[in-house]
Amino acid sequence: MSTTVTIAPSAGATVNPNIYGHFAEHLGRCVYGGIWVGEGSSIPNDGGIRLDTVAALKRVNLPVLRWPGGCFADNYHWRDGIGPRAERPTRLNIWWLQGESNAFGTHEFMRFCRLIGTAPYVCANVGSGSPEEARGWLEYCNARQDTTLTRERAANGDPEPFGVRYWGVGNENWGCGGTMTPAQYALEYRRYATYLRQSGGDVTLIACGSHPGNPEWDAEFLATLKGAEGLVDALALHNYSGWGMPAVDFTDDQYLNLLAAVSGMDAHIARAAALCRAASTAEHKINVIMDEWGTWYREATTEAGLYQPNTMQDAVFTALAFQTFHRHAADLVMTNMAQTTNVLQALVLTEGPKLCVTPTYWVYEMFQPHRDGAVRPVTVRGTAHTLADGRTVPGCGASVTEKDGTLAISLVNTDVTNAAEVTVALAEGAFGTVKSARLLAGTTVRAQNTPDNPKVVAPTALAVTATPAGLRITLPPASVAMIEVGM
Ligand code: AHR
Repeated sequence: MSTTVTIAPSAGATVNPNIYGHFAEHLGRCVYGGIWVGEGSSIPNDGGIRLDTVAALKRVNLPVLRWPGGCFADNYHWRDGIGPRAERPTRLNIWWLQGESNAFGTHEFMRFCRLIGTAPYVCANVGSGSPEEARGWLEYCNARQDTTLTRERAANGDPEPFGVRYWGVGNENWGCGGTMTPAQYALEYRRYATYLRQSGGDVTLIACGSHPGNPEWDAEFLATLKGAEGLVDALALHNYSGWGMPAVDFTDDQYLNLLAAVSGMDAHIARAAALCRAASTAEHKINVIMDEWGTWYREATTEAGLYQPNTMQDAVFTALAFQTFHRHAADLVMTNMAQTTNVLQALVLTEGPKLCVTPTYWVYEMFQPHRDGAVRPVTVRGTAHTLADGRTVPGCGASVTEKDGTLAISLVNTDVTNAAEVTVALAEGAFGTVKSARLLAGTTVRAQNTPDNPKVVAPTALAVTATPAGLRITLPPASVAMIEVGM
């Protein structure tokens, strides 16, 4: 299979680093087990936060982390999670059918964010909360003034404000966040956002947007918001892929079907971006966030705490998705894959004291050179897979960004059996020196890392040959590559 990727001469919008954000919810073993083990644990920890997870996540430099949910957020009362741990109440996590000890609360989350070097993104409770509760949380986190709440924060160990910039105003308010209509949510949003805006610093307010099953939500929400558009900084979409298929023993057709879902995300973002642009004013732009996304396989049931294995299929899917996200760089300012550890398309899987990073993790790690890069459009000439329903999946996915005199070129061979012979050429000019070239591939698309066998899939060096026609690369089946080359 031979493919030519031609890079256009002029650059477009810049990839917001927050496109590589993530999401951790009080669900299954994401927080309890994957992040928090408690100070008394035999698993090495820093004040209860497991150190191997911290070390793994530091390497991918997550720019932003969303917490505490998800569905959990609209039944979470933040005061339950502050103060002496022994005195915190144990509640029922009604969505994920678990007890919630509240051992991991606001201060623990902020400490975790500091340890892994990420910006916190807090989702406030709209479904079962109040504007007063939400704005009190923001004051507790961000205010510098001397108030009863800021004194309480100091007494709980943090005299300095946390400076939380990103605030979600509810989660999935069309479902677990209150089963609201878009108009009803918009009216609630106007109330909550008014008080959140006033309560502490430069905040980005994020409204609940649609999922693929309720496309009318975004337009109706924005219409009811008319006149108060300045209260919303971004509209948050949710879009999961792979429902019903198995995580590892999938057929080749199921694999292609999963990859085709990336075009669904593309259309979802494009539609929301057009609506947001139309609702924006010269003074205030409403952006788009892909707030929850990733694979959700058959194995990820509530009983299993939404745990699922993670293979090279997930890596190929993720890489294609990021390449699509880059094309929306002018409107898409953040994405948060679900979820960081042990839940859905995790970066890290743990089993007691053992830990592995997943093929998905390696895509986050390898694609770091794309962050903050200006997108150089590409033309890809090669084969495509056509599905029975007429949708197509590119045989080779490509994305190129430019930063500080270097081009970051990511390539994906989606074919499960054939290698791809790829030539990457510049429409104008010549490449400089190849600075680095890395490849992620398994022996098959079903290859996975597990806590017992953690090193099956990891990046290796990739051979790149400079020819007069361009850079020549051979990509093994179902593989992902990142090449950095001078301009
Ligand atoms: O990520 C798991 C769940 O998926 C979240 O709690 C919810 O927002 C979504 O439906």
